[in-house]
Amino acid sequence: MQFIVWTKEHDTGIPTIDAQHRKLIDLANNLYEAIRLSREEQVIQNILEGLTTYMSEHFAAEEALLKEAHYPEYDQQVEAHRSFIQKFQEHKASKDFLELSDELFGFLKKWIVAHFLGMDKRYVPFLSKLTDGRGNSHKNGNKNL
Ligand SMILES: [Fe+2]
Repeated sequence: MQFIVWTKEHDTGIPTIDAQHRKLIDLANNLYEAIRLSREEQVIQNILEGLTTYMSEHFAAEEALLKEAHYPEYDQQVEAHRSFIQKFQEHKASKDFLELSDELFGFLKKWIVAHFLGMDKRYVPFLSKLTDGRGNSHKNGNKNL
């Protein structure tokens, strides 16, 4: 069973963003699966680090697009991303994360779903204008992470 089931109606319609959101969800699902199957700790750590790195890269890419679009809620987005990273790091660092995996996953799922479906959907009209509806910035080209 997948940890987060993402369907088409969850997408923003901005191709670059959707590809990144879907990759993040895949990584979260991989982590969930690896822990559920009690894979070796090194394997789990690698997936966890991959997820952490990709999350930061995605936030940076999203923030760059929002800045270019002069998105009025840019500061709130940056703050939400920062606070997520901070809480995520706290979860990872607080104890052996395997013992905390239920808590970590509860937080991860709630945050990802709420943020992607709530806050991120609000910038769609702004990014659509900026990117002629394709989600690919003119200035940065089609930058796929
Ligand atoms: Fe966001």
